[in-house]
Amino acid sequence: MSNSEKKSITLNVNGENHDLEILPWVSLLDALRERIHLTGTKKGCDHGQCGACTVLVDGKRVLSCLSLAVMKEGTEIKTIEGIAENGKLHPIQQAFIDHDAFQCGYCTPGQICSAVGLLNENKAETREEVQDLMSGNLCRCGANRGIIDAVMSVKQAMSYE
Ligand code: FES
Ligand code: FES
Repeated sequence: MSNSEKKSITLNVNGENHDLEILPWVSLLDALRERIHLTGTKKGCDHGQCGACTVLVDGKRVLSCLSLAVMKEGTEIKTIEGIAENGKLHPIQQAFIDHDAFQCGYCTPGQICSAVGLLNENKAETREEVQDLMSGNLCRCGANRGIIDAVMSVKQAMSYE
């Protein structure tokens, strides 16, 4: 592969800039895992079907396996490694622990990023709506009930603030 096909880009991930020389067809998922070495974002299907690779781009949830890294220059990307701030877990992370919302944990980074994105969207009100809008994130272990419980508990806590 010739170097002339590579593009020079800067990706802002979790508040830090990363300069990369990258082929234009490299997915954001591969750039994060293999070039920036943030392996918290998981590769499941690599085809947009499981949600394991979900990250936040400008606060919106995005499937990083279906996104080209070169298209994300100039955005703010947040991965699971950047969800906790100042050593404090995000309320969604704490709720996942409190509600036993994982078993193997493989889907968990994507579930948490997706749940944070869902809160930002502020669309889902009922449990059914949360379930529906989290349905792009699959959990093969069957932790779905705990995941929805966790999201609902944070939504309820937010409504009392
Ligand atoms: S790895 Fe991206 S949706 Fe499955
Ligand atoms: S906790 Fe194992 S796939 Fe969800």
